[in-house]
Amino acid sequence: MHGPLTVLAALLPFTSAQLNTYAKKAGLKYFGAATDSPGQRERAGLEASYNQYDAILRDGNEFGSTTPTNGQKWLFTEPEQGVFNFTEGDIVTSIAQEHGLIQRCHALVWHSQLAPWVDNATADWTPETLSAVIVEHVANVMEHYRGKCYAWDVVNEALDEDGSYRDSVFYRVLGEDFIKLAFRTAAKVEPGVKLYYNDYNIEKPSPKSEGVVRIVRMLQEDGIKIDGVGLQGHFVASRPPTLDEQIATINAYGALGVEVAYTELDVRQTTPVNETSLEWQANAYRDAVGACVQAEACIGVTIWDFYDPFSWVPYTFPGEGAALLWFEDFSKHPAYDAVIEAMRNATVSPCKRRQQRRRAQMAARSAELQ
Ligand code: XIL
Repeated sequence: MHGPLTVLAALLPFTSAQLNTYAKKAGLKYFGAATDSPGQRERAGLEASYNQYDAILRDGNEFGSTTPTNGQKWLFTEPEQGVFNFTEGDIVTSIAQEHGLIQRCHALVWHSQLAPWVDNATADWTPETLSAVIVEHVANVMEHYRGKCYAWDVVNEALDEDGSYRDSVFYRVLGEDFIKLAFRTAAKVEPGVKLYYNDYNIEKPSPKSEGVVRIVRMLQEDGIKIDGVGLQGHFVASRPPTLDEQIATINAYGALGVEVAYTELDVRQTTPVNETSLEWQANAYRDAVGACVQAEACIGVTIWDFYDPFSWVPYTFPGEGAALLWFEDFSKHPAYDAVIEAMRNATVSPCKRRQQRRRAQMAARSAELQ
């Protein structure tokens, strides 16, 4: 017999539901949200401080992981050759440290938000000089964050849509060796951190997802460590990849022996939003998180910030927005409940359950030791 309270609880939306709590129950390591440093917000014409925002980000039941959306990129960390600056990145790292959040670190070698001195037509790089630049950058940045990252996005967005390599200063000068060099260097600097290849539009089977498989194999064949593939997951509400497509792709990467994570999930829609587009968005979030929970290789989900006013989407895709899980007034999107539902309904595979048990045992053991 169900008492009136049970019935009421079943009818209520998951008002007090919390993302990270459900993610862990479903066998994931974390549900995370990326965040920018307040200085960056100010530069974008936003206020620097939002108490409600800070409280949600620091609520361990809601988020178990974070990523700096900008502060660790080359433009900020090595704005001039040999001059390193970790001010912006450190702000997010200290939030993670103070609140016991896992940190996914992002991104070491990327053609975008690159310091102008690297991507400069007059620079005249040779394979030797550019290799030295990559080694110096990767080594210094990783050294600074040593022990503070669960994972590093070592190479970001090296592929074009057709699966060939994207034209970048790195590829022009070094060919695919730049990828090998970046990973080889990263593994030397901090052997214990997970090294990821990260990209977008690689969440469903396509020439680009085959390109990812090629990169992973290339590194493995050369004996170079790669631990993970990051699916950025920048989706459009009206045409997201399906649940099955995402599961198939995660399994294909997983078959290579690497782990997988959604690293920058957001689902944009035309603004102003309407009921239909919000429903599409909820379905897209449900399928992405559902795929992660169901496919064994997937270990966690990070959304690219959680609060709409801080999303990159309206700046990059004019006319689109409302891509995250909290509206401007801090009410939650319907997609929030859809995400919880995907995790609640998870039929967790025996393998994930084993991992979950192992993690719980380890946590209990370390609690005993303290
Ligand atoms: C975005 C940031 O969110 C913006 O603030 C910035 O202006 C541009 O970059 N893929 C990535 C992220 O790997 O680093 C990008 O982040 C979004 C696309």
